[in-house]
Amino acid sequence: MDAAELVLRLVATRSHAPPSSGRDADATLVVSIDLGERPVISKHLFGLMLEHLGRGIHGGICKELEELGDVVRTDVVDALRELRTPNLRWPGGCFADGYHWRDGVGPREDRPKRVNQHWGYSIEDNRFGCKEFLELCEAVECEPYIVGNVGSGTIQEMRDWFEYLTHPGGTMLADWRKEHGRSEPHVVRLWGVGNEPWGCGGNMEACTYAAEFRRYACFLSAPPGAPPLTRVACGANGRDTAWTEAMMRLCKKVGGSGRVRFSMEALSVHLYCSVRREGITGQEQGAAAQTAWFQIMQKAFEFGETLRMHVAIMERHDPERLVSLYVDEWGVWYAQPPEGAAPSQALSRGASLLEQTCTLRDALVAALCLHAMIECCERVQLANLAQAVNVLHCPLRTVGDELVRTPTFHALWLLTPHMQCQRLEGQLLHATQFNHGAAAVPRLSAVASIDEHGAKVHVSVVHVHPHAPMSIGLELRGLGASAKLRVERANVLTGESMCADGCTPRDITESVTLASQSQLQLQLPPRSLVVVILGI
Ligand code: AHR
Repeated sequence: MDAAELVLRLVATRSHAPPSSGRDADATLVVSIDLGERPVISKHLFGLMLEHLGRGIHGGICKELEELGDVVRTDVVDALRELRTPNLRWPGGCFADGYHWRDGVGPREDRPKRVNQHWGYSIEDNRFGCKEFLELCEAVECEPYIVGNVGSGTIQEMRDWFEYLTHPGGTMLADWRKEHGRSEPHVVRLWGVGNEPWGCGGNMEACTYAAEFRRYACFLSAPPGAPPLTRVACGANGRDTAWTEAMMRLCKKVGGSGRVRFSMEALSVHLYCSVRREGITGQEQGAAAQTAWFQIMQKAFEFGETLRMHVAIMERHDPERLVSLYVDEWGVWYAQPPEGAAPSQALSRGASLLEQTCTLRDALVAALCLHAMIECCERVQLANLAQAVNVLHCPLRTVGDELVRTPTFHALWLLTPHMQCQRLEGQLLHATQFNHGAAAVPRLSAVASIDEHGAKVHVSVVHVHPHAPMSIGLELRGLGASAKLRVERANVLTGESMCADGCTPRDITESVTLASQSQLQLQLPPRSLVVVILGI
């Protein structure tokens, strides 16, 4: 589509739409129902991560003082179900490369206490091991994504763990699982081979890790009758595209017949919107809040750019898309480890390591990042927000017995209608940006999808401007002649300030105006996420 057509479309839409409120620049979102490939948006983009880190598991997922009964908090399970959490990644993170699975099986009273070297030298009593994790996944009805230990483990140890979990019976390890109270094998389809080998997972060069990965991958395969295993190779740290390049090159084999194979089914990337170095804490006031807002939004748009760089490399090495990209750690990172939390210092279990206040600002960043991943959903098939409870960009926070749903929880919940739907082609026609000094970011981000029955269209729009409202026209192209557009539900998430932390979605269904059979007009408050579900 050329620029002239874009302008024409904009004009055409405007000529049918009611006059804007005049409060600010109009924009138009044109969604085409009948164009393009319509790739499926994997529900696994909405995965979360759990790690033995601060109050993530102990005091987060687990009850604080429980000794031997059920350790998992039922309110957390309920909240994860509400989010339709599709997968949970565990036991880390950095913790994974120091974790030995045998410590976390069998009677809880017999499990050893170990030092958690990565996270403040706290004492890990192993009462939440693989049995508890897999029971949690069953309660949430989500898939487990287990990360094996490469950094301080062995191939034999990883292979044994997989056999213990998934073998039907008759082997020493499968029988051991039965003795531990689980006769049926678990279904574990997602398996990470280490974590961040370029850093806490072993300080390796890409070529060293690629060689390690190929060896590990050789010994990991699903038992007969089980679903095929997805072996996830560790990917880049942020913008380190050289790592992606190396992994795609070094884990590829071209057979005599020219058939291409890769040693992995997925390659990961860790993409944090990190503002630690800028000294931003998440709770600025006045002018500092405005600057921080802009910087964080900039990071969110950079997230999309970086993702597209990794995707482009994979497209070049693997045009058939045999290898998926997993963003298996992402989120906003403000938190500094508390003073003195270096590994040389002892921290008791339950210390507030990497905890940060999660506000409306972070909720909108989460929505922008999810939009970016949906835009790349042909390749990006899974993601894990770091982390589920209390740590970093968490949707859930525990305060004693109370469970708090952060604004990010609500943003994720509002976007869940996109899960497993087909992404629609959309053109955002707008002239405006959000400016800050000489720099600018796009003012809007939008995604549209259609359900498998072709009966519902979901549109989500993030409005980045922190102060000014905006009016936007939405035009659906390619609707059948008999289609009758109905607004089934419309919600907005916004808050009284940029750092509001108590905000919840509001129902705005009644205030969405249909301008014609295929058009409607949306009012976007400043700093908001608006999601509309349309019956067609
Ligand atoms: O999510 C916190 C930490 O960030 C993880 O343990 C590590 O993988 C990453 O650097």
